[in-house]
Amino acid sequence: MNAPTRYAEALLTGMLGAFGLDVEYVRAEKNSLYYLDDTGAEVPVLDLVGGWGSLMLGHNHPEIVAYAKELLETGWPVHSQHSAHPVADQVGAVLNGIVGREFPGAEPHSVVFANSGAEAVEAAVKHCEFDRVLRMKSLFEQIEWNADVALTALREGAAALPDDTSLLPGDMPAPTTVEEFGALLGAVAAHNLERAATAPVFFALERAFHGKLVGSTQFTYNPLFRAAFASLGREVCFVPPNDAAAFEDILSEHRVTVLDVEVVDGVITLVEREFPAVAGLLVEPIQGEGGIHALTPEFAARIREICDEVRCPIVVDEIQTGMGRTGTFFASSAIGLVGDAYVLGKSLGGGIAKTSAMLVRQSRYRPEFELVHSSTFAKDGFSTAVALRTLELLEVDDGAAYDRAAERGERILAMLRELAGAYPDVVADVRGKGLLIGLEFADQSQAASPVIRQKALAGLLVFQLGSYLQLAHHIRTGPTASVPTMLRIEPSIYISDEEIDQLRTGLVDVCEILRHQDALTLIHP
Ligand code: F0G
Repeated sequence: MNAPTRYAEALLTGMLGAFGLDVEYVRAEKNSLYYLDDTGAEVPVLDLVGGWGSLMLGHNHPEIVAYAKELLETGWPVHSQHSAHPVADQVGAVLNGIVGREFPGAEPHSVVFANSGAEAVEAAVKHCEFDRVLRMKSLFEQIEWNADVALTALREGAAALPDDTSLLPGDMPAPTTVEEFGALLGAVAAHNLERAATAPVFFALERAFHGKLVGSTQFTYNPLFRAAFASLGREVCFVPPNDAAAFEDILSEHRVTVLDVEVVDGVITLVEREFPAVAGLLVEPIQGEGGIHALTPEFAARIREICDEVRCPIVVDEIQTGMGRTGTFFASSAIGLVGDAYVLGKSLGGGIAKTSAMLVRQSRYRPEFELVHSSTFAKDGFSTAVALRTLELLEVDDGAAYDRAAERGERILAMLRELAGAYPDVVADVRGKGLLIGLEFADQSQAASPVIRQKALAGLLVFQLGSYLQLAHHIRTGPTASVPTMLRIEPSIYISDEEIDQLRTGLVDVCEILRHQDALTLIHP
């Protein structure tokens, strides 16, 4: 029988097929995906990809499934846009409770819902820009007001003409009459107008991953995902992670001032004001797709100070790290990184619904944003209710799920570190926190085996190793496009000791293959 024609991502599925990874799964539960063998029997595969992080509570968590069924069976409204959404507010209340617990003294946060991680990132970027535009508007209103005040004071003889115009480029002499002062104000306005055309600058970190939509892909460092689409968006300024001095230097290059007039001690004086050119900084507390790299508490503290000085909002992308994956609900809370906004996605939908959210601290929140940003599907009745139930499951028993993520993660990490100790020639590094783990293999581009060398040079060795783990050990691991030598391991909190052992057995086998350059076994398990 001919295979059916593929219409959906045929190229990608074909590529997966080349590695034996184009398996059709027919059932999923906890950390297992099942396919049917030739006899029609179910074969379990240990799923350590974990839906790229969307399955903190595993596949088809029975309580979430039962609740989802109940919602659908009882006719719970899914699409009731432009009406009250108390369940969405309850999600906000739970999230605010968590924020208050993990960031003591934090102010309340408003919540804006979206449908995917990248969409929440774009909402956050838009909110930063919206806030910047409104700040710019009020700055220019204030400058205009101050010019009127100065002119009136001058006419009424309550203020003297400015005697120093050096802040204004172009050697304009100090005015000697009211008319000349009017001309000076005109020159100041023209100067400010020119400065106001300065494009906003957004910062992100090298190795960052923030999504692949038109806007969010500009914040994703890997040129593979960004370069072809660069002309569709504003160029983001990438700075090295954990190097606050470099950030400060680059940021200072982008600081822009405009001119204002003030009456000081009876004299009209030209003064500089900071123009809001800097629109925002996006950071992941632990970079996920970029290779599992954590930010340090020192960097977190310093960027907060630097950003406060220029009122640059910090958007903390917790899409990968949040929901308790690294042992606390927010990975940023563990390093004391206080954001102006946070974005959540992935497991927020409990592995069933597609939803994401942006939290903005209320003193920076612009309520008018709600009138200019929306989506048909965001904040729908189904996904918000599922998100609420998911949060309840995570929060129950004083957040036992977070402790479990930390404990299971430590156990996996300990096993991997032992492996790295036993195979230092093969394993380059083991990194991660909680259930966000990376195993980096040593470079094989000089390998003795031509097959292994070739795969490494093509950046496909991890696919080949993943293929071997899948076919020989029924283990599914995730690659990382940005670090082609890394296997990503993101299981649910329910991963058992036996499953960790299964992973160990598979990885020992892979390490032996690499140590002995046994390409034949690797390619034909
Ligand atoms: N931000 C981070 C930190 C992410 O890891 C991802 C996705 C996104 C945003 C975008 O979310 O896919 O729902 O639009 N990360 C996946 C990964 C794809 O490979 O880790 P999305």
